[in-house]
Amino acid sequence: MKYIDLRSDTVTKPSPGMRQAIANAEVGDDVFGDDPTVIRLEEKVAELFGKESSLFVPSGTMGNQVALKTLSEPGWELLCERECHVVNYETSGPAVHSSLMINMLTTERGVMTAEQIEENIRPLNIHCPITKIVALENTHNRHGGTIYPLEEILRIRKVADKYGLLMHLDGARIWNAHVATGISFKDWAAPFDSISVCLSKGMGAPVGSMIVGSREFIIRARRNRKLFGGAMRQVGILAAAGLYAIENNIERLAEDHQNARLLAEGLAQIEGFGVDLSRVQTNIVVADIAASGMTPDEMIGILKENGVLCVQFGRTRLRFVTHLDVTKEDCIKALDIVSRVIKQ
Ligand SMILES: Cc1ncc(COP(=O)(O)O)c(C=O)c1O
Repeated sequence: MKYIDLRSDTVTKPSPGMRQAIANAEVGDDVFGDDPTVIRLEEKVAELFGKESSLFVPSGTMGNQVALKTLSEPGWELLCERECHVVNYETSGPAVHSSLMINMLTTERGVMTAEQIEENIRPLNIHCPITKIVALENTHNRHGGTIYPLEEILRIRKVADKYGLLMHLDGARIWNAHVATGISFKDWAAPFDSISVCLSKGMGAPVGSMIVGSREFIIRARRNRKLFGGAMRQVGILAAAGLYAIENNIERLAEDHQNARLLAEGLAQIEGFGVDLSRVQTNIVVADIAASGMTPDEMIGILKENGVLCVQFGRTRLRFVTHLDVTKEDCIKALDIVSRVIKQ
């Protein structure tokens, strides 16, 4: 059966054009600094985000973890949002790799405010951990692809400057935030000391993320990437996919956002499905199915039997994600399948 796969934007497969770019890529040993395609990608991404330098890493998780390791000293305290990827899906990375203590702040939509950050900075004395890093996520996955308001980020930067904090952005889906708001990558990046962005997910590359920051920061991050086993050799074949994604797949994310909106509005009309439409800001739709009388497992199973894939996202919720490999027609068909399943 050909499924309409709405589990995640990580399921995209390289398009024919991307495969061609991979086949044609010039390569060299990147550990020796010899891969021209990787160098081109790193220069391009640094330029795009208005920073001095960038580094190719195998995954978003490694991007976040290498960045945090590079920013920090053991025993420092990291402030981040309770539902963020760094805390929930990176297998205790900040504790294991960087000996960071984590203070998780609870928020409504993934948005820690400047006041919340300031309230949670500990006094400087011999008893307390040193609060030193703030990590934000934009767009926010577990909050349903919500966008962090830039004004709030700038207010947080002021607090960070006042107290000497460093700021990291998990920008796995910053591309979506850019397309949804029209705010430039440079403006999104300016308040941060380090950023990680993903070339897989909605951008459609099979592998790869980038860390972006100052020249000095990236020199140290390169060393930590090696420490984590993430230095790669003729990896220009993957960098070529990343370059292709940047050249071809950014603006088309608008289509994914329109499809997510269509899907969300359709699901909201189906009995038993609750969707908070105000949270559907990019390519993620979260539906609460508590009122359907079915468990997420049951619903996922029956949808799968009928050709639609989605994932559980919390106790009574399902997540549907639009991407490069699902069309508007697929979304209309998926809605039709969900309403038929519910009627049965
Ligand atoms: C917000 C966010 N950050 C980081 C990652 C990690 O990316 P990867 O799966 O490439 O390690 C993900 C993955 O879905 C994500 O959603």
